[in-house]
Amino acid sequence: MSKQRAKLVVGNWKMHGRLAENAVLLEAVAQGAGALPESVRVGVCVPFPYLAQAQALLQGSRVTWGAQDVSALTEGAYTGEVAAPMVADFGSSLAIVGHSERRAYHRESAELVAVKAQRVLEAGLTPIVCLGETAEERDAGKTEQVVGEQLDTVLAKLSSGEAARLVVAYEPVWAIGSGQSATAQQAQDVHAFLRARLVAKGAGEVPLLYGGSVKPDNAEELFRQPDIDGGLIGGASLHDQDFLAICGAAGAVSVTQ
Ligand code: 13P
Repeated sequence: MSKQRAKLVVGNWKMHGRLAENAVLLEAVAQGAGALPESVRVGVCVPFPYLAQAQALLQGSRVTWGAQDVSALTEGAYTGEVAAPMVADFGSSLAIVGHSERRAYHRESAELVAVKAQRVLEAGLTPIVCLGETAEERDAGKTEQVVGEQLDTVLAKLSSGEAARLVVAYEPVWAIGSGQSATAQQAQDVHAFLRARLVAKGAGEVPLLYGGSVKPDNAEELFRQPDIDGGLIGGASLHDQDFLAICGAAGAVSVTQ
């Protein structure tokens, strides 16, 4: 008889949503999450302007919330930047850092992502640190080298106690928004590799999420893998029934076996 780890499922809305449709989605997710087993935790990462709405509609529910990025700076004359304590002001508990879309479109380096993770921790929030290789890197046999360096750059700046407060999301770039998820075995292999690095840092209990075309029909097989502790969900998190079905799949595999 083995007990699987608790699962964590987080929606990353990316640059989607408007007040009226968000209200419908947030209320449905809050209500649906109430029926999930205790072993499943649920979160949503919304665009900055909607943090107040998430706080108003999710407070008192089982769903936590947060942002999709923070500034690497703390305060000052930095037009357009949003500091981690500002995100915390809205009752947030999460902030994604290092999403591949930011690494690619905003030229974020591994070093910058590591500083952002520190800022998030300082604000008392949980950083969800995203890692992942491109198709070219995978084809060249460089997956472990790439994700290993991305993770090590973050871990190098943290004590083991700080590292233990992270969530890490493995999101192969080629699987994001493509409809082509990594297979459960491909994801498990990378997660096992990342787990070993975290164990070496004294942070082996860090939740390791998989992201990249997770849908209701592939979620359970992914979540069944021993080192996959849940998912970071893009497109499917914008549809309440799909998102809740994915959360339900996490629930189905996280109960005592
Ligand atoms: P999709 O689920 O749309 O592939 O996006 C995954 C992702 O990037 C989550 O951060």
